[in-house]
Amino acid sequence: MIPNGTQYLVNIPVPGSMGAQRNGKTGKIELADAGADVVIADILTSLAEDVVKEIEERGHRALGVKLDVTNANDVQEMISKVTDHFGRIDILINNAGIQCISAAEWGKYNINVNAIAPGIIETDLTRKRLEDKEYFDLWINRTPLERIGKPEDLSGAIIYLSSKASDFVTGNTIMIDGGYKVQ
Ligand SMILES: NC(=O)c1ccc[n+]([C@@H]2O[C@H](COP(=O)([O-])OP(=O)(O)OC[C@H]3O[C@@H](n4cnc5c(N)ncnc54)[C@H](O)[C@@H]3O)[C@@H](O)[C@H]2O)c1
Repeated sequence: MIPNGTQYLVNIPVPGSMGAQRNGKTGKIELADAGADVVIADILTSLAEDVVKEIEERGHRALGVKLDVTNANDVQEMISKVTDHFGRIDILINNAGIQCISAAEWGKYNINVNAIAPGIIETDLTRKRLEDKEYFDLWINRTPLERIGKPEDLSGAIIYLSSKASDFVTGNTIMIDGGYKVQ
């Protein structure tokens, strides 16, 4: 479990955990269920508010923030809004790419930096493409578990990396790809 009152800041979209589209709700709601206060930052305010409502109806705290991740002012404003509302930020989830460098540099500040590397996940981004049988079969044939990933397949790793259970884990990548990498 995540200690109650942990602030969870959603930043740049990653599948199944970010954004406010229906595919992105899963990770955030499960994090809220696990004890985190969740910030839903998305370019689409109405979608973010829908997710906030759903989390609040489950008895948890959440804050919706309009964010265009390509706009530095939006990012600054989001940080101000989140710290004004919740006091601090404990967990940041965004698109990785620099995690090894960051992990090496930020460890001394007690900051863990890890990545989740998904295979194909059915989201609003991929759904249409997966209707193409050839494309679908290509993924299935290269995936030992013989299915397309679901957003909720990422939730356990997100909760693990957000919890005390991973306090001594940094600079790592968790592959969640149904075995695609070993094919
Ligand atoms: N779906 C997959 O199989 C998969 C696999 C690996 C990596 N990824 C990557 O993960 C990311 C998200 O993928 P997804 O499948 O969840 O996409 P998606 O399109 O289903 O959802 C993206 C979410 O981000 C929001 N958004 C879009 N532009 C934004 C902006 N400028 N600022 C803030 N919010 C914004 C959207 O409103 C939406 O809620 C992408 O970068 C994608 O390349 C996806």
